Amino acid sequence: MENALFDDESVPLELLSERAYNYRWAETDHGVIPLTAADPDFAVAQEIRDAITRYAQGGVFSYGPNRGLLSLRTAMARELSSRNYGGVDAERILPLDSAASCMFTVARAFMKQGDEMIIFDPVDYLFEQAATAAGGGIKRCPYDHETGNFRLDELERLVTDRTRMIGVCNPHNPLGRLIKQDELEAIARFAQKHDLWILNDEVWSDIIFPPGQFSSFHHLPRPLRDRVITVHGFSKSFGLAGLRIGTILAPCSESYSEILKASHVMSTAGGASTLSQVAATTALEHCRYWVDDFVAHLGGLRDLAVQRLNAMPGVNCEAPEATYLLFPDIRETGLGSDAITEYLDKNARVAVIPGNDRFFGPGAAGHIRLCFATSEKILVEALDRMDGALHSLAQKRN
Ligand SMILES: Cc1ncc(COP(=O)(O)O)c(C=O)c1O
Repeated sequence: MENALFDDESVPLELLSERAYNYRWAETDHGVIPLTAADPDFAVAQEIRDAITRYAQGGVFSYGPNRGLLSLRTAMARELSSRNYGGVDAERILPLDSAASCMFTVARAFMKQGDEMIIFDPVDYLFEQAATAAGGGIKRCPYDHETGNFRLDELERLVTDRTRMIGVCNPHNPLGRLIKQDELEAIARFAQKHDLWILNDEVWSDIIFPPGQFSSFHHLPRPLRDRVITVHGFSKSFGLAGLRIGTILAPCSESYSEILKASHVMSTAGGASTLSQVAATTALEHCRYWVDDFVAHLGGLRDLAVQRLNAMPGVNCEAPEATYLLFPDIRETGLGSDAITEYLDKNARVAVIPGNDRFFGPGAAGHIRLCFATSEKILVEALDRMDGALHSLAQKRN
């Protein structure tokens, strides 16, 4: 049975077309369905709206604490302890203005001009941008699309005397994969051997489909998790992208101090708005049910979309274990990632993200990324249109 929170009527299209930027409804031409940026089409949980309203009605918007609201840090510490992260201290959690900003801050804290971060290929562009904004460079560890494995055997070849960090996206955007416990352990051992920090991005860790089980670096024994700096977000799980809120969990007081310095929160030049922190606290304390219902809704859409995509000529799509992202291989259509994206925009009126260097690295070539966090009606309409356009393309080629 459909859940009323996520049924066909619950997508506020008019508001989205005013407010949803970043390649979405407010930025695409009228009539185009954007399956682009990873941002849900649904209104957020009522409890979050009420909390924001209550706070705003108070009418006081003074400076908050530099290190973030204790209520948010405590709620996050409790959430992470419930995931068996072991000894999470609210004093080592720092809320900032988005997970993206958290990633940039972590890179800035531990990298100097000319240093390097090893990242995976493909992976979300924020990893490369965080490293380069800190004055550093990247080396990419490849992914083998045939076997479905990261080439961790390549890591030793990629490390140099300038390597300071390794960036890990778990669950993985755009592959929709859960990084397995033995992979995490291998990465942690490699990091330990070479004295590297691990930038551990877990913004997708709430969106996991049964029977998938999330493993975290934090489930590894010490000292393997001693250099893991973890970023969490509220955009993917709770639809709060526009509130720009995320948190960093530092492994020790020394690393927390470095992050604090790089964040500029003590001078008030950095930090998250109190309103956003109130929303995030409410999300953690009262909206777990909303995420559970959201994931149940997404699970049905995932199965539907994967089945439909695999029936389209030239498209091969694996079912993601996590995230609401699909990453089909489109090489057999005869078009590359950019060309098929343009073709679909023009002929299907569906916008997708091309698997190119800019968004994900060269390892994304031959793929497109689709976000399916919408209603069944909108998704089916988009898939119908793609199906028609790809059949015409195949006919033209024959
Ligand atoms: C892997 C990953 N990390 C970080 C972010 C950024 O999240 P936020 O909106 O909180 O900055 C995203 C958003 O798409 C993401 O996919």
